[in-house]
Amino acid sequence: MASTKLSVFLPLLVTLLLAALLSSLAAAESQTSFATKKLFTMKKEKLTHLHFYWSNFQRAPTAVSVAPILNNATFYGAVTINDDTLTLGPDPDNSTSVGKARGLYHFPSNTTSFVYEMIYSFAFTYGDYNGSSLSLLGSVFPSLSGTASELTVAGGTGVFRFARGYAVLKFASGDPKRSLLVNELDVYVSHY
Ligand SMILES: *[C@@H]1O[C@H](CO)[C@@H](O)[C@H](O)[C@H]1NC(C)=O
Ligand SMILES: *[C@@H]1O[C@H](CO)[C@@H](O)[C@H](O)[C@H]1NC(C)=O
Ligand SMILES: *[C@@H]1O[C@H](CO)[C@@H](O)[C@H](O)[C@H]1NC(C)=O
Ligand SMILES: *[C@@H]1O[C@H](CO)[C@@H](O)[C@H](O)[C@H]1NC(C)=O
Repeated sequence: MASTKLSVFLPLLVTLLLAALLSSLAAAESQTSFATKKLFTMKKEKLTHLHFYWSNFQRAPTAVSVAPILNNATFYGAVTINDDTLTLGPDPDNSTSVGKARGLYHFPSNTTSFVYEMIYSFAFTYGDYNGSSLSLLGSVFPSLSGTASELTVAGGTGVFRFARGYAVLKFASGDPKRSLLVNELDVYVSHY
C-alpha cells in the first residue's frame, strides 16, 4: 500500500521539482543586463618598453607622512602619500616631464630594514602616452649598490588598457639636503 502511494507521488514530486528549477533558470536568463558578453577582435598584442626616472621629494609638500613610524630601525608603520614627478632624464629640475606618479608607499615589516610597498598610479602626459596610465604594485628593497627591485604592472588605462607586465626599479641618485630620491624605471608592458 505504502509503495503504491510512493509510486504515484514520486513522479509528481520530480515533475514539480523540475518545473521549479526550469522557472528559476528562466528568471536567471532574463536578468542579462548586468553582464553582456560579446566577442570582439583586439588589435595585435605588443610589448612596449618605457624608460624614465621617478623623483620622490620626501618631507616635501608632495610627500606627506600620514602614519607614525613605530620602529626606527625598519620604519615599520610609516605611510606616505605622494605626488611625484616622472622625467625622461635623471635630473628632475632639468629634464622633460613625462607624467606624475601618485600613490602611497608604506613600510610593512617590523623585522626587515626599509622594505617598502608601493601602491601607485603612473599617469603619463608625454607623446602618444598622454592621458594613459599604469598601476604599479610591489615591494621595493632600496639599495645604493644598484640592486634592482621588481614591480608588477597590475593594469592600465588609455593605450594601456588590458596591460600586464613588470617594472625594474633601480636607485639612480639621492640628495639628502632636499630629501630627494631618484629611481630609474624600465617598464615592460604588454598591451593592445
Ligand atoms: C624614533 O626616533 C625619533 C627621533 O630620534 C624619536 O623621537 C622617536 O621617539 C623614535 N621612535 C620610536 C618608535 O622609537
Ligand atoms: C640643464 O641641462 C643643460 C644641458 O646639460 C645645461 O646646459 C643647463 O645648465 C642645465 N640647467 C640647469 C638648471 O641645471
Ligand atoms: C617591532 O619590533 C620592535 C623591536 O624589535 C619591538 O619592540 C616591537 O614590539 C615590535 N612591534 C610589533 C608590532 O611587533
Ligand atoms: C596632454 O593632453 C592634454 C589634454 O588633451 C593637453 O591639454 C596637453 O597639452 C597634452 N600634453 C602634452 C605634453 O601633449
